[in-house]
Order: sequence, then C-alpha cells, then structure tokens
Amino acid sequence: MTAGGEQNKVRPDRAALIQRTEEFVRGKLESEATGHDWWHVHRVRNNALMIARGEQVDTFIVELAALLHDIADWKFHGGDLSAGPRAAREWLESLGIEEEVIAHVCDIIAGVSFKGAGVETKMRTAEGRVVQDGDRLDAIGAIGIGRTFAYGGHSGRPMHDPEVRPVMHATFEQYKSSNGPTINHFFEKLLLIKDRLNTQTARKLAEERHAFMEQFLERFFAEWEGSA
Ligand code: NI
Repeated sequence: MTAGGEQNKVRPDRAALIQRTEEFVRGKLESEATGHDWWHVHRVRNNALMIARGEQVDTFIVELAALLHDIADWKFHGGDLSAGPRAAREWLESLGIEEEVIAHVCDIIAGVSFKGAGVETKMRTAEGRVVQDGDRLDAIGAIGIGRTFAYGGHSGRPMHDPEVRPVMHATFEQYKSSNGPTINHFFEKLLLIKDRLNTQTARKLAEERHAFMEQFLERFFAEWEGSA
C-alpha cells in the first residue's frame, strides 16, 4: 500500500516533466531543416520507447535522453561535443530533477552520436544503448535517405561525385571535418549501422531498412549511368 502510494505520487510528476521537456524541445527544434528537427526527436523517442519494452531500463531516463539528445548537436556547434550535455543539464536543472538522473541523461547525450566509421561509440548503460539504437534506426531506411539528402543540401554538399571515393574515418576529427558528397555518407555511416546496433529489437527492425537503402543505391547508380 505504502509503496504503491509512493509510486502513484511520483508518476504524475515524471509525466509532467516529460511533457514540459517535450514542449521545450519542440519549441527549439520546430523549424530545423537539416533532418535534426522536432519530428526526428519524436521518432527517436518512439523508437527508443519501443526498444525499451524488450530491455530492463528506466524509461524515464530513456525518454528524457531521447527528447534532449539533439538539443545542441556538435554538428551545429563547431564540433563541440559538450554543447549538447551542457544545454540538457541547464534545462534539467531548471526543472529541479535529481542530480543522478541529470548525470545519466547527459552521459547518454555525450555518447550517443556516430563519430566516424573507425571510432568506437560504446554506451555505458542499458538506457544509453536503447537511446543510441533509437537514434540510429532513424538514420537508416527511407527516413534515413530523406534526412541524409536534407543534411547534405544544408551543408552545401554535392549529391554525388563519382570521382570522390568514400572515406572510412579513423577519428572523430576526420569525420567531423569531412565534406564529401552525400552519397558517400551511405558508405561512411549508414550502411555500417545495422552491425553497430546494441539490441535485438533494433537489429531486427534494421534489416528491412538496410535492404531498402541497398535497393535505393543500386537504382541511384543505375539511373546515374543511364542504364535504368
Ligand atoms: Ni539524433
């Protein structure tokens, strides 16, 4: 009775904190046009919560981290990896959330992103692995293709240049300063994702998304050559 009563006291608080965080993120990322907009965050949250059902995790942490994971992406802050966790911490502190939760969420945000083909990005906790998978699923498949071209256009990259070969970046420094054609990004990141997922649920979902990207590329190159 007591335990149940306490839980009931905690739950509405958490729901309200999630709601306020959602509004905060939505306000910040609504008009974003590089594929890291509010709807990306919305999909990552849904992916992460779905994946979380098969894992032993604290869904409050998962949901907060998914909502805040792109609040200040290094790609748009001069490569500064600490911008995201800093912005998230500031927001979570303003909500009066306990330090343990803030530290965990910020640790996830710091580690979640892809940093180059040859760079390991292992997450320290089960919650982190779930959020990372949620984010990575949104980078592949039809959505991934759309986002990749949106980002490429935003960064002024050519769509494709047959003379520029993909590069397997060995360090984050190389990866973040790369400005190769958009199609190369498929070989430098997107096609590698299915083998870098943490959970069984995500690996299963990635299969079809991966196959769809392969079909897309096959067709893209055939049309490029004029043979389709
Ligand atoms: Ni993301």
